[in-house]
Amino acid sequence: MKEKLWGGRFSKATDATLEEFGASIGFDQRLAKWDIRGSIAHARMLSMVGVISEAEADKIIDGLNYVQGQIEAGDFVFKTELEDIHMNVESALTDYIGQEGKKLHTARSRNDQVALDCHLFMLDACQETIAAVRALQTALLELAEKNQHIFMPGYTHLQRAQPVLFAHHLLAHFWALERDAQRFYQCRKAADCSPLGAGALAGTSFPIAPAKVAADLGFSSIYDNSMDAVSDRDYMLEYMFAAALLMVHLSRMGEEIILWNSTEFNFIDLDDSFSTGSSIMPQKKNPDAAELVRGKSGRAIGNLVALLTVIKGLPLAYNKDMQEDKEPLFDSIDTAIGSLNLFAGMYRTMTPNQAAMEHAATNDFAGATDVADFLAKNGVPFREAHAITGKIVRDAITQGRLLGDLSVEEWQTYSPLFTAEVQRMVLPTNVINARKAPMGTAPENVATQLAKAKCCLQSN
Ligand code: ARG
Repeated sequence: MKEKLWGGRFSKATDATLEEFGASIGFDQRLAKWDIRGSIAHARMLSMVGVISEAEADKIIDGLNYVQGQIEAGDFVFKTELEDIHMNVESALTDYIGQEGKKLHTARSRNDQVALDCHLFMLDACQETIAAVRALQTALLELAEKNQHIFMPGYTHLQRAQPVLFAHHLLAHFWALERDAQRFYQCRKAADCSPLGAGALAGTSFPIAPAKVAADLGFSSIYDNSMDAVSDRDYMLEYMFAAALLMVHLSRMGEEIILWNSTEFNFIDLDDSFSTGSSIMPQKKNPDAAELVRGKSGRAIGNLVALLTVIKGLPLAYNKDMQEDKEPLFDSIDTAIGSLNLFAGMYRTMTPNQAAMEHAATNDFAGATDVADFLAKNGVPFREAHAITGKIVRDAITQGRLLGDLSVEEWQTYSPLFTAEVQRMVLPTNVINARKAPMGTAPENVATQLAKAKCCLQSN
């Protein structure tokens, strides 16, 4: 059996159940690349300040690069008895280069080491997430731009409310995703701080240069307090919140796709490549991508709650409980990026059904608000105008007619203020064109949004 790196004060071997239960190597091997990058920077700094010689640092760095090569080639054997990625790498290094390997851990602890690995890892994870958000935004923008003329019913309470441009509807999701992207930029800022040098919790008596290592690794700053440095998991929680909220957005979009794709709505046609079939019902074409993403939002919310719960009762500084941060964090990252990529493909390949959308918006009372507005603009107090229009709608429903079917004479039986204009006004395209006030669905507003949205994608 391999001797534990911390085995000096122990006279008995670890019980097999604890060894198995306590090992994180099964999942933290994912941090290998960042662990090695951090160790290389640490070794360089140790030689710079004279704690180890330059020759020793060179040997350590060569050895670490070799270990990295082994891992990349799939030739590295991760050992449970070595507990985690930090001790697996260090032990392999010493096996490979000998005595010098044992100097690498000078002036650091696994507590600041694991924190450093996670900070470095999160910088990359945030970048990758932002790129995936951008790809989905691009898909939405292209779909909106290509179909600027299509209109559809806008809904409140899932009841047809007022007609809107299809592009306007899609852009609503674009802006929610823009807030998500901005949130992930913030997460990146939270991760952009190096904890290396905090040691176990109190700092170190070696003359280290933490700001130098931090700069070498591309960090903008270091922590002010060693205890905070090893205890802080806020940057993970911030990401997990951002991922949970992103997944809630995607889940709502998924729900909408599922509705739109149903025979009842028939607003869109999902591409065959983003749909699945049924094993029993040959006619079925199921929106699995949208359903799965809607389902997976539960994980992202659960992961956030899980880590908040792990952290909430912990005294300063490091506690082994913190090892429980990685699995939910990794899962939130994989869920967010996987869902974004899937949705980007789904939106890129879907086809809107113009006829069905426009039929639904036309065969309805979607112009009713504009009738009330017409009266209000002609001096009738809005509440009264609302009541008059309500009566018109009620009568039309009783007679099985739509507002567009009423003659001018009929309109005038409700109010002498009505003119022929009201007949044109209730048509969906005119209802839409009239919404020129800021934020409204008028085509010129949507064109402005499209231009602004493009700028967002170009800037960071
Ligand atoms: N595997 C541990 C974790 O993920 C590394 C830090 C262990 N530190 C310690 N003092 N046991 O949190």
